[in-house]
Order: sequence, then structure tokens, then C-alpha cells
Amino acid sequence: MKPSRDSRPGIRDIFVDIAASCERLGAPTYADLASCVAQWSEEEPLASLLAPYADARVGDMIPLRLLAAVHRLALMREAPGVAVFLSTTGGTPPRDDAGRERLRRAFLSAVAEHREVVADALARVPQTNEVGRTVGLGALLRRVQRGFGLPVRLHEIGCSAGLSLRVDALMEAGVVPGDHPEWGGVPRIAERSGCDLAPVDASSTQGRLVLTSFVWPDHLDRFERLRAALEIAAGVQVAIVAADALEYVRGLVLQPGTTLVVWHSAMWLYLPQETRDGIRSTLEELGGQATRDSPLVHIALEPVAERPEAQHRFTLTMTTWPGIDGLPPGIEVPWGTTPPAGAPVTWSVPCAGGIVRDGSGRLLLVRRGQAPSRGLWSLPGGRVEDEESWDAAAAREVREETGVRATDAEFAGIVERDSGAGTTYLIADFAFTGEGEPRAADDADEARWCDPVEILRLATSPGLVEALREWGYLT
Ligand SMILES: C[S@@+](CC[C@H](N)C(=O)[O-])C[C@H]1O[C@@H](n2cnc3c(N)ncnc32)[C@H](O)[C@@H]1O
Repeated sequence: MKPSRDSRPGIRDIFVDIAASCERLGAPTYADLASCVAQWSEEEPLASLLAPYADARVGDMIPLRLLAAVHRLALMREAPGVAVFLSTTGGTPPRDDAGRERLRRAFLSAVAEHREVVADALARVPQTNEVGRTVGLGALLRRVQRGFGLPVRLHEIGCSAGLSLRVDALMEAGVVPGDHPEWGGVPRIAERSGCDLAPVDASSTQGRLVLTSFVWPDHLDRFERLRAALEIAAGVQVAIVAADALEYVRGLVLQPGTTLVVWHSAMWLYLPQETRDGIRSTLEELGGQATRDSPLVHIALEPVAERPEAQHRFTLTMTTWPGIDGLPPGIEVPWGTTPPAGAPVTWSVPCAGGIVRDGSGRLLLVRRGQAPSRGLWSLPGGRVEDEESWDAAAAREVREETGVRATDAEFAGIVERDSGAGTTYLIADFAFTGEGEPRAADDADEARWCDPVEILRLATSPGLVEALREWGYLT
């Protein structure tokens, strides 16, 4: 099992672990160098350079600091023996053992020759700004624009060099693909600002060098995208302050006629728990004052620790105050997942279901005629169509599958279900009052009113009984 970010397995194992990650993420050149460093970690010149980090946490990312230090030397033409093997410096990655051996030797020579520079780089936290993350963030911003129709005040915490704050310019220039264009045009951004504990100056040579050096050389597309984004950033001003995220969020205010969007990516894990709690409660408090004329939106692209895939998948979530598309305010919707570099986004399929009750407390269930859970009893429901609200979709699905008219929608909760075909269904369930004798149609093979005791005896779809219990519709 992969060690957690806070564990301290010893510097050698940290390099072994990162080598496996590099291999898995399509970076064989770094994978080979990282596993060699693991082997040579007790020999000079590495032993004394790595000695201060013997007890480092996995999350300190010492291997990335070392690899980036040498990458930086290659980018500055100070490590030509390394540069000939890196795509980002016009080189060709080693194709055979002889090439790999030459690169390893060149790497060690560069470390020995630039010992002071490397020691200094090892003491600094990695500074990255991954432009690919703007793909999912930007798509949700289209959705916000469609939902509220107001100019956006975009604020990013942990924004590094603030490249994502130029999301509109990046989309317009095609530097990031405009995902979900049907959600609307490129958003109108009236104000853009951010904070970072250690902001990177994208307009300085040093800042650009730092950012580019942290891109893995095997990922040439990411490197090129970053370079293009840096060029665009030069023409779009953003205000970035050196500040802690919580302090920054506490200073934000709503303004009539604009949507305040607070977003972040790949920074939540760095925050202590009390900072995370503080940011959440500050946003909830601000959300309590939000109106349709001054809405608040929180968008995040972060690894979610509770999710089993968190080590290598980030989750893209959005919470709005007031709610949009038929959802209540303050509901965190997990729209999809991405690789750590942000693209491509695997979007979940928005679906809606109805918890329909009749006057005597019975629930309307259908026996599913389609996968997933074909043959099992479940709630009537199906996909939300574009431009349709979630609650309207739930009522429509109930009518189509059972003929029952569902009224008085009340949000119950959100669940995620594996479609069985490589996608995830994102299902918002709504409670309704229903009338009429059910007649199965569409995706349902059977439809009927069931009393609670009967539901417990039926073969129901996975998780249904638990969700109904949790939301208080089944005791
Ligand atoms: C991995 S980088 C991600 C940068 C950018 N959000 C992205 O997705 O490319 C994490 C950033 O969070 C910043 N950071 C960490 N803790 C912070 C805090 N408490 N307040 C503000 N920024 C913080 C770091 O300085 C760093 O720039």
C-alpha cells in the first residue's frame, strides 16, 4: 500500500515510492532516476545532501525537489549531459540501458558539480502551477455563468503563480480545451485575485524557471502548455498576495450584481485541519448571506482523502449559495474526477431520482429493466437532460416510468453509483408526494407502491435501503 503523505518511511523508500508513481504516470525517465537515487542514497554526493531529510514526510516531496533542481540546471544549460536526455531541453529520452546509464552518470555529475545549488533547492518546497487543472475548473465556471448570469469575481487560494486565474484567456487561446462548451460561453471575469503562502512571480525569469522545472520532462505536453500559459499570463493582470488561505477567505465580501467564486486546486492537503475547518465555516457563513443577485460559489479540485482512489484521482466539486439547477444552497456536488495534472476530466453522469410517497406512507418503487441493477427494485429515475433542473428531471422520470404525478419536490441527498460501464452516476434524489396507480413504462419492468416492511424484503439496488434510512424516509 502507498504510504500516506504524513508518514516518514525513510528517504530511500520515499524515492522508491516516487519511482513507482513516475512509472505509473508515464514518466519513465524520472522513474529510473528516482530508483537509482534510492540505490545511491547512502553514497556521495547524495548521502550528505539527503542526510538532513532522513526523517522527511512523504508529503515534503524531497524527490521532486531533487529532480526539479537538476531539471532546472538542464533548462539553464548548466547540465548539458542531462539535457541531451530530456524532452523539455530538446533532448531524446534514453531508449536503452546504455542511454539510461549515461543519464544516471550525468545526473550524479550535475549534482556533484552544483552541490550548493542542489542543497539550496532541496530546502525549498515545490512550487508548481498545473494549467491542466483549469479544464475542469473552467467548465464549472461556465455552469456558474449559466446558472447566475452575472459577471464573476474570481478568487483563488493557494494560487501559486495565478495561472488558473487567467482561465478565460487560457480557454480563448485554446491552451486548455474548453470542456463542456454547451454549458455556455467563456465566463465574464470582472475581478481576479488570489493568495499563496509563497506566490510565484510568473513575470520573472526565475519564477518561470521554477515552475517549468517542476514539470516532469517526460510530460512534454504539460511543459508546452505551461509555457503557453506563462506567455498568456504576461498579458492578463492578476492581484496575488502572500497570505494564508484562511486569512484571505476571511477578507472576502459579496458584492451585488456579481458572483463571488472561490476556487482552489491541489492545495487542500497542505492545510492543517483547523485551517480547512475555518475556510469551510467562513464560506458557509458568507453563503448564508448570499442572494441571487450576489451569489457565492466554491469550486475545488482536490484529492479527497476518504475516497479510495484519492492517491491518483482528484475530485472536482462545486457548492453554490443559493443553489442552482434545482439543488438547495450549500450542497457539495462531486462533478467528476481527474488525474493529478487535471486533464482529461472524467465527468459523472448527472441523474435524478424520486422518493415518491403516497398519502399512507408507501413508497413508489420500480423493478429496473436496464443495467445497472437490472431486475432489482429501485427508485424511479434517470439522466438529467441538458438545461433541465435536477428536481424537474426527477419528476419527469417518475412520470415516464410509472405514470405517477410527483409534486412538492424536496431535496433528499446525493449519491454516486458505478454505472458498470466505466462511468459514475451522480444522482440527486428528491422526495415527492405522488398520486395515481403506477403503470410501468420506459426503463421500468414493474412499478408499485410498497410499504416500508415490504421494501426490506425486496431485492433492492445496492445502497438504496441505506440511503433511504440515512435521509429518514425508511425507519
Ligand atoms: C501544489 S501547489 C498547487 C498550486 C495551484 N493551485 C495548482 O493547482 O497548480 C500548492 C500551493 O498551495 C500553496 N499553499 C500551501 N499552504 C497554503 C496556505 N495555508 N495558504 C495559502 N497557500 C498555501 C503553496 O504555496 C503552493 O503554491
